[in-house]
Amino acid sequence: MNTVTGSAPGRVNLIGEHTDYNGGVALPLALPHRTRARVQPRADGVVTASSSAPGSSTVTFDRATQPGDVDGWAAYVAGVFWSLRESGHEVPGADVVVDSDVPRGAGLSSSAALECAVLVALDRVAGLGLDRTGMALIAQRAENDYVGAPTGAMDQMAAMHGGDGQVVLFDARAVSAQPIPCDLDAAGLALLIIDTRAAHSHADGEYGARRASCEEAAAQLGVSTLRALQEQQVDAVVDRLGDDVLRRRVRHILTENARVLRTVDLLRAGKVPDIAPLLTESHASMRDDYEISAPEVDVAVEAAMQAGALGARMTGGGFGGSVIALVDRERSDAVAEGARTAFERNGFTEPHTFVVVPAVGAGVQEDQ
Ligand code: GLA
Repeated sequence: MNTVTGSAPGRVNLIGEHTDYNGGVALPLALPHRTRARVQPRADGVVTASSSAPGSSTVTFDRATQPGDVDGWAAYVAGVFWSLRESGHEVPGADVVVDSDVPRGAGLSSSAALECAVLVALDRVAGLGLDRTGMALIAQRAENDYVGAPTGAMDQMAAMHGGDGQVVLFDARAVSAQPIPCDLDAAGLALLIIDTRAAHSHADGEYGARRASCEEAAAQLGVSTLRALQEQQVDAVVDRLGDDVLRRRVRHILTENARVLRTVDLLRAGKVPDIAPLLTESHASMRDDYEISAPEVDVAVEAAMQAGALGARMTGGGFGGSVIALVDRERSDAVAEGARTAFERNGFTEPHTFVVVPAVGAGVQEDQ
């Protein structure tokens, strides 16, 4: 068996937040930032995982690892070995060496990038021939049941299905990914990321609490997922719920799905600038109805808009992480500067800002 290097991108979500675990739709794109995993098979069934990240030590476990054996960053690697076996796939032990330029803790899915980089390499090493959606679901299971973060599959689907110049329409009910053209450059636009550097984590209780609220609301409304209510009037649906918090949670999910579908229509029609107000509406919905924003995030969105962004919103799981701003290309420096100035004024840590374009999904390279 040859040594194989897998690589997979981080992602930003253009729009469609917290919809995936509700059977809904989301529109992520793969980032140019990638994680690489060099996988060298070994015959003794042992796995070692090491990383080029400063201060990380080598972690050793058995290829038949079980949840609870490994924690920290290497749990994402161990989780992939576990999830593959749970799905009935035999993989050898291996020395896994990881290297990444996906910012960590920034809401840009460094964890899915790591899972998918290891997974595509193992798929090739073991000659499994898995399809991309199948691999995304195996990676999601690693995150859910090995690492213990109750996420949907959006991040893994973006890492597996991303493509140059396109966003991925992920339909969680159909478990499908469809490429949607998104040529920002041709429209004279740029997508600016403002990494607020405010703490964010999925493993903590808030993400799970939002998910539990949605499941509770779906049960009260007599449906298996909130997506089943998408064709109905939002007000009529929420009026059937007694609890104000559940009403707002459901309103976010239903209006967010609608914004995703509208964004897809506009992108297909080549009307890229017209998606901007939908991004800003999405942010207001996350802030007021879903309550997953953070002070740094709201300041970044407001500062971006004041500095001339066409639209801006938080992206990812929430409670910190990154904001995306759709800007006229020549305004991107001014908008980034506006965010930095506002952060300084508020006494926040300086944000990281950079422009991204949709990039390709996971892939492998075989060492000669
Ligand atoms: C995280 C999860 C995804 C998704 C987003 C919110 O990134 O991993 O599955 O739920 O949050 O849209």
